[in-house]
Amino acid sequence: MAKLSPLGLLKSRAFRLLQYLALAAGLVAVPLITLPDLDVPARVLLNIVLWCCLAVFACELAGKTWLRSKSVQSESHYLRSSEGVIDLLAVLPVPLALLIGIPASTAWLLASLWILKLAILVPGLSMLGRVIHHEARALASGFIIFLIILVLASVALYLLERAGQPDKFGSLPLALWWAVTTLTSTGYGDAIPATLAGRIIASIVMIGGLGVFGLWTGILATGFAAEYRRRDFIRNWDLVTSVPFLKNLDPPAVIELTRMLRRVDLAENTVVVRRGRPGDCMYFIASGEVEVKVEPHPVRLGAGAFFGEIALLTGAPRTATVTTTAATTLLMLEVTDFRAFTAHHPELAKAVEAEAAARRNRSGAPKSHARGPRLVENSEKD
Ligand code: CMP
Repeated sequence: MAKLSPLGLLKSRAFRLLQYLALAAGLVAVPLITLPDLDVPARVLLNIVLWCCLAVFACELAGKTWLRSKSVQSESHYLRSSEGVIDLLAVLPVPLALLIGIPASTAWLLASLWILKLAILVPGLSMLGRVIHHEARALASGFIIFLIILVLASVALYLLERAGQPDKFGSLPLALWWAVTTLTSTGYGDAIPATLAGRIIASIVMIGGLGVFGLWTGILATGFAAEYRRRDFIRNWDLVTSVPFLKNLDPPAVIELTRMLRRVDLAENTVVVRRGRPGDCMYFIASGEVEVKVEPHPVRLGAGAFFGEIALLTGAPRTATVTTTAATTLLMLEVTDFRAFTAHHPELAKAVEAEAAARRNRSGAPKSHARGPRLVENSEKD
């Protein structure tokens, strides 16, 4: 059995699973331990669960500190990073609170800080952090609009309503509270303007609140989409440049193609295209292998090869079933992008057509289809 290094152990699926389990068990145990009519065995069991969770987090903190102290990054660098601070907050507060004499039932409430670990364990949250960082200016503009409406509306409501409802609008802080609950569409209904002008302003504030939140939602959604595109672009760039057939393209063409291709990760024995079905995309093999079921012998295609081009060139159904023979990463190019790209790069179109013609010859498939779209105008092929 291969010996697992400490780094390998920390990054292993088993340890990750243990982290998730400890986090889930801990976050369930913390609220349960506050139940007043808990019997003694249940309380003891919950305490054991909480101490076990704490032990897992302490091992993780010690392991990471030890590993980082051995790597180029210094140990203090890790402990000052957001990950290190969250790991420290997961381990130290409860024992410290118990040490200074805080009752266990109160001290364990500090274990609710474990929820911060989700920010490290769930990758989507780090993406949210990057989106907020990139869109900070746009989000701040939305916040400033929020503040402007808040202040102007609360001053107006203070002036209009203070005489009639001094208990609700008698001071600016009270009017500000009303403005916050109205602008956020919370509207507890504890303070309602009585004057006509006050109600008109309240309506504007409510609509303004919806507008501001809509704006924020739009900014975040756009930011997420841009972040995903950026991430996919970086991942696809490496894959595109690793496909020999595409290696000779000039950089602008690689950029264009990288934006068009979609990465598809498939397990072994997955049918990618089925004979007789219509085809609306072709595939480049970035890694792995596929088997094309053709007579008399199946053909295997490895990294760098492509398939699925015949249906795009001829408009006819798929000529063969293609199945993965190992875990495979494909780059998928949809028919519209295929046409747009090959229109700009006829040399690639010619190479694909030449290979398709050779394959059709070998498979005995008809050479051309009257209905099929031609890729290169006045092509000598077919
Ligand atoms: P298409 O017909 O769209 O879908 C099945 C694909 O299998 C086909 O495109 C070709 O890319 C591929 N294919 C068909 N015949 C052969 C062959 N003889 N050798 C290699 N690949 C083939």
